[in-house]
Amino acid sequence: MTEPVTLALTSPPADPLAVTDIATAAQCGYGADQDPWDFDPVIGYGPGASMVDIAPSWTPMQGELPAEYREASPDQLRQWIRDARQTLGDRVVVLGHYYQRDEIVEHADFVGDSFQLARAALSVEAAEAIVFCGVHFMAETADVLAREDQAVILPNLAAGCSMADMADIGEVETAWAQIHEALGIEPGILDDDGLVPVIPVTYMNSAADLKAFCGRNGGIVCTSSNAETVLEWAFERGRRVLFFPDQHLGRNTGKTLGVPLDQMPTWVPSLPCGGNEPQTVRDARVLLWHGYCSVHKRFTVDQILGARGNHPGVRVIVHPECPMAVVDAADEAGSTEYIRKAVEEATEPTTFAIGTEINMVNRLGAAHPQHTVFCLDPVVCPCSTMYRIHPGYLAWVLEELVAGRVVNQITVPADVSAQARVALERMLAAQPKSKPIKAPGSPVIV
Ligand code: 13P
Ligand code: SF4
Repeated sequence: MTEPVTLALTSPPADPLAVTDIATAAQCGYGADQDPWDFDPVIGYGPGASMVDIAPSWTPMQGELPAEYREASPDQLRQWIRDARQTLGDRVVVLGHYYQRDEIVEHADFVGDSFQLARAALSVEAAEAIVFCGVHFMAETADVLAREDQAVILPNLAAGCSMADMADIGEVETAWAQIHEALGIEPGILDDDGLVPVIPVTYMNSAADLKAFCGRNGGIVCTSSNAETVLEWAFERGRRVLFFPDQHLGRNTGKTLGVPLDQMPTWVPSLPCGGNEPQTVRDARVLLWHGYCSVHKRFTVDQILGARGNHPGVRVIVHPECPMAVVDAADEAGSTEYIRKAVEEATEPTTFAIGTEINMVNRLGAAHPQHTVFCLDPVVCPCSTMYRIHPGYLAWVLEELVAGRVVNQITVPADVSAQARVALERMLAAQPKSKPIKAPGSPVIV
């Protein structure tokens, strides 16, 4: 192994809390004091903010984790992971998303946001295996970008994303047909201004076949850090946008670009024409898929008002997956990377109230003791799918690699991968038209 390279902070909190402890302390809900493997035999998201969402029947399930990994102490697991990493050397790279628990992050070669991580893995040429401690769509993206001879491994197959699961390819194909029927135009036909009727835009938090859908239909992928640039790209090519699966990121970004709210109807996939009159579809600029993140929809305007009341001068930063009213009430809105930088770059001791996942907020607080950093939501629920990655699974997949076996490999079929790559490459080529303008008191989406 070469010297560990980190994209961002990796230091654990001075007084680290296991995710289960955090959840229990705050009465997050049933099962919060249980281990992730208790939830492996059932389809569902498990303890955390998404637990009330219904997981689709096709949600991948994790087989039984061998008993020794379930029964090992934290110190034993830590040692097994270190030993396996030592044996594997540069043949393996371990990636840790910002939302992962500290007991995972301590083993990561790279810590970062989803796209940074997928790209970071490419920089380790010798890596035959990329172990992605994150969620399913992230591992898929890594596989799309990886070399053919590299295996991408998700330590727990049940680590999906409840938001990504809210749009599937069948529903999107149906919506695509219904939208064009309402418009009375075939897909891809240029109007007098040289614009197609609809450009599909998928958030990175989506299955690979949705990225492929965008690739083959003139569309594009976005992340929470470049959504504005990507929407501008889309409006240069299309009359309107179908944005999936996160309605909030779509609405917040459309609003920043000046799209009136009445031209951003939601598209409810279970309803005919998404629950809209055909005229509403014709007038729309952005059709917002009815998806949401269960972690970020917990943040409220009242929490912001409370933070301002209790901490005069507090700097409120929320993720753009939060509802529009919350983004409007915050001082700033930005991606995980934006939030990290904002705290890291603050030169004066500052009080930050952050609206994003609890593991990241706690880690930021611990890494920057000169600041006060707290989560806006007093009931600190972790992301239930990020929670499914536990050191037991990481030790298992690494020891299997040592034994010459690849388990939990995430493979995107070649045709899907090629089309998804087209949409990702369009995203990389898209250039910002204008720099975001920060008017005093107004949020900026980055
Ligand atoms: P990033 O794309 O910033 O990694 O965020 C992923 C995510 O799941 C946010 O909820
Ligand atoms: Fe998905 Fe929300 Fe968890 Fe991110 S925080 S992985 S969007 S459920």
